[in-house]
Amino acid sequence: MGYRLFLQLFIKNMKNTIKKIAVLTSGGDAPGMNAAIRSVVRTCAFHNIECVGVYRGYQGMIEGDFEPMNARSVRNIVSRGGTMLKSARADEFKTKEGRKKAHEQLKKEGVDAFVVVGGDGSFTGALLFNNEFGFPVMGIPGTIDNDIYGTNYTLGYDTALNTAVDVIDKIRDTASSHHRLFFVEVMGRDVGHIALNVGIGGGAEEILIPEENVGLDRLLDSLRESKKAGKTSSIVVVAEGDKIGKTVFELAEYVEENFPFYEVRVSVLGHMQRGGAPSCFDRVLASRMGVKAVESLMEGKSNLMVGIKDDKIELTELELAIKGKSKINAELLRVSDIMAI
Ligand code: F6P
Repeated sequence: MGYRLFLQLFIKNMKNTIKKIAVLTSGGDAPGMNAAIRSVVRTCAFHNIECVGVYRGYQGMIEGDFEPMNARSVRNIVSRGGTMLKSARADEFKTKEGRKKAHEQLKKEGVDAFVVVGGDGSFTGALLFNNEFGFPVMGIPGTIDNDIYGTNYTLGYDTALNTAVDVIDKIRDTASSHHRLFFVEVMGRDVGHIALNVGIGGGAEEILIPEENVGLDRLLDSLRESKKAGKTSSIVVVAEGDKIGKTVFELAEYVEENFPFYEVRVSVLGHMQRGGAPSCFDRVLASRMGVKAVESLMEGKSNLMVGIKDDKIELTELELAIKGKSKINAELLRVSDIMAI
């Protein structure tokens, strides 16, 4: 260990009153969650802080489903998708009674603070918990949707983009071999970040996202235009939360009826986008976020989310992370239009 690191460590430990940290993953799983768990556990080990893993998110916290973790407990997980701690959407934690039970379990276990890896629902739970019990909490954004304010990237987003674009490339082979129009639905309940990026990366003709309702007429016009321009196959990427008012299957049917030039097919990518080995980007991001989360708790901070902005790890108030809206990049919309000419 270098002298500078040693000195920093010494100063931090002098001020630190946090002796035991719990880590949990909550909400939908995302690639990179394991790397974040590993980072929290190893940062604790580095600073001589005890660490416990909480299984099944807040539900496991309520039930006291804890396991002590050390640096070796997280060996060989940096490359694995999913979450070794499992995840859950715990309705009981939404109640005051449920959170009281969880607090009792944490007290019994001697835990002083927790780090939760999840999305805005998980952060809302953490904030309520802190307000009620004054318990230090720290959030790490883990969701493939990239829909959290206060960070340019959430864990799992980069991996999901690469997974989806890889599949779209394969679909393109069939689309072009058969003179077909494919509607490819990607995840994104409320936001179109995945759709917009994989649409550009996968060479889509049109990209339908919840933030922008293009309407059925414009979609048909665009397909007619592309036919005129000599295209013989096309891919339309649709975010699952698209607001055009039809499911992707109804949309496909409508287009087939009103524009019989193509044979139309639908492909819903679904949960395959959430699985698989995290990209290098997500592994590095998770490692950086875990270090920051633990060290911020050691500095007496709480109610914050660790994010990344312009390649700098930064903290955002949990309240802002929950309430703020992650905006779609308008430049990307323009780029996608130009690319589809
Ligand atoms: O992880 C976020 C997300 O993928 C959303 O895009 C999607 O709507 C949702 O999770 C589905 O999750 P589940 O099937 O676990 O409820």
